[in-house]
Amino acid sequence: MYPFTPGSYAPRNGWYVAAFVEEIGEPLLSRWILNQPVVLYRKADGTAVAVEGRCPHRHFPLGESKRVGDAIQCGYHGITFDAAGKCTFVPSQTNIPGVYAIRSYPLVERGLWEWIWPGDPDKADESLIPTMDEIGFTLPGMIPGAFYAMHVKGRYQLLNDNLLDLTHLGYLHSSSIGTPDDAATAEVRDLDERRLSSRRYMRDTPQPPLHTEHTDYRGPVDRISGMDFYFPGFHSGIGEQRYPRDHARADEIINTSRVWHAVTPATRTTCNYFFSMSATSQERLDRAKITLKPVLDEDSFATEQIEKIITTLDELPPELMLKSDTTAVQGRRILQAMMDKEKAEREASADKERAHEPV
Ligand code: FES
Ligand SMILES: [Fe+2]
Repeated sequence: MYPFTPGSYAPRNGWYVAAFVEEIGEPLLSRWILNQPVVLYRKADGTAVAVEGRCPHRHFPLGESKRVGDAIQCGYHGITFDAAGKCTFVPSQTNIPGVYAIRSYPLVERGLWEWIWPGDPDKADESLIPTMDEIGFTLPGMIPGAFYAMHVKGRYQLLNDNLLDLTHLGYLHSSSIGTPDDAATAEVRDLDERRLSSRRYMRDTPQPPLHTEHTDYRGPVDRISGMDFYFPGFHSGIGEQRYPRDHARADEIINTSRVWHAVTPATRTTCNYFFSMSATSQERLDRAKITLKPVLDEDSFATEQIEKIITTLDELPPELMLKSDTTAVQGRRILQAMMDKEKAEREASADKERAHEPV
């Protein structure tokens, strides 16, 4: 499926953000994740859990059901499943058929986020979750805040593409966080097995409109803008402005922030989008929550409009790529390779099973 090969739309073996930590409490929270209904809640001992959101009896949504202690009792005919997915009660009979169980997902709480592993649970390696140090979450003096959990009516890769190509900042966000220099400045890229990183170092560059909010200084700045994409759906951004080299306060930081975008497929053509950030004071953080909302709406707007075009056209012509698409293309290739590997593994295990079938 665009922009991937037919049938693929997102890797399953990877840590995705299922929710902000603060969203999960005693009530059942329903969320679609990689085309599966999932229910998230916190047990009495405080541990957060994620289980399948579909009752295996008649497909009733378990997120619309009832908690009985740490278990969920289906709101339709009362079949009950514990937090590990095991069926513990069938009202209409005393024996519990062996097939009665729901899936429970590996879930790890780290930073502001609940990380879910939708794929093969045996492969859920916690060391693949970005560390809080490397994403700048633990920087001294910085205050983090979970801002918005959004549902965007566009496929997840459109938002990954958006975050992997920050040349859009000076145009889609021209009234707030970008200038034409975001597009005109060459990127410095770096790749390792867990993330693809991109930086732009701008010298003597005009400040984007929103950046002048906390300073009386109106002159040009030296600015760093960058994004680290942790596969398959977490983007950690850095923004930093300093007085330029010929200024009396040369190199002093005017403002710095870290932004975190988590993009998790909901269905094949919609996604969950979690935005959070940190700032140097609570006041700046509170203000950013207000001023960045229209910016996020611009990205959602672009994503949803593109989704409409690509799903409606009879035939989708190939994109006309530019040099500035190198990072996004690299990101797509990595995700495609992850999906190809999963497909090959699925096929190999199906072959193995067939080989054991009696003839
Ligand atoms: S659909 Fe859940 S118990 Fe019947
Ligand atoms: Fe954007």
